[in-house]
Amino acid sequence: MLTAGGSKSPQSCGASSIIPRQKKKSVCSYLDWTGPDCTCPGRTAPPPPPPPPPLLLLLRSDMALRRFFVGGNWKMNGNKESLGELISTLNTASLHEDTEVVCGAPAIYLDFARSSLDPKIGVAAQNCYKVAKGAFTGEISPAMIKDCGVDWVILGHSERRHVFGESDELIGQKVAHALESGLGVIACIGEKLEEREGGTTEEVVYTQTQVIAENVKDWGNVVLAYEPVWAIGTGKTATPEQAQEVHEKLRAWLRANISDEVADSVRIIYGGSVTGANCRELASQDDVDGFLVGGASLKPEFVDIINARA
Ligand code: PGA
Repeated sequence: MLTAGGSKSPQSCGASSIIPRQKKKSVCSYLDWTGPDCTCPGRTAPPPPPPPPPLLLLLRSDMALRRFFVGGNWKMNGNKESLGELISTLNTASLHEDTEVVCGAPAIYLDFARSSLDPKIGVAAQNCYKVAKGAFTGEISPAMIKDCGVDWVILGHSERRHVFGESDELIGQKVAHALESGLGVIACIGEKLEEREGGTTEEVVYTQTQVIAENVKDWGNVVLAYEPVWAIGTGKTATPEQAQEVHEKLRAWLRANISDEVADSVRIIYGGSVTGANCRELASQDDVDGFLVGGASLKPEFVDIINARA
């Protein structure tokens, strides 16, 4: 039945007008509602559907959770003059704010680096011992590193492992003590060329990670650095696919052996001949959460590497 005049009022949705009188609804349903002009009593527009999440966010949500991390490992290089110039370059450069930057200074320059670098740039020691103090000539402790205002330490670097003969066990003890002392740890792992060629890359990096994991209570202060020994200082960078493959496996290892939360949140960074020229492609890999950079961290191109995801 149509309303008087043979047509529905433009102010009514009309839904009730075709319902027999005895069953007439006083208010139309959402399904009947036809537009913002509807004046049925009590009518309000149905809530709009929530917008779909952006596709990029869906695909890269875990990447987004993990803040990009770029460490510079100055190793045993530089002096106050050259490092001072590098520090001025970093202090005045435009650095992507979503990147966490940490510079690994030689022990004797930790104080100098910390007092000269802009506070938004972190500083790391390149090594430390496994106890707080004592008769250990030539060593430095996490307590001393912290006393210089420095918050990070690099442990298990391949040069410590293979030039100075540090064992997995010693590295594990250092990791435990550094974390207990409140330092963040950049824990390095990586296979040698003969191990890669012999097909034991996974076994090697899992064993190294296992020993580190046994000494970690809180993964919030740990960054895992995958540095294939054959790529360090050689100019032979791992391809983005090679890096991604190992990083993905390491994340799966963390998921299977620690927890989903740790696997999703721990930054796994790549090291080995990273340069301004190759950093962007490496940084585009899903499981590459940053870099540990040696040679190129002493040059102005370090800024390009910091901004690899900008
Ligand atoms: P590289 O060194 O960038 O000079 O290869 C990396 C590292 O040793 O951490």
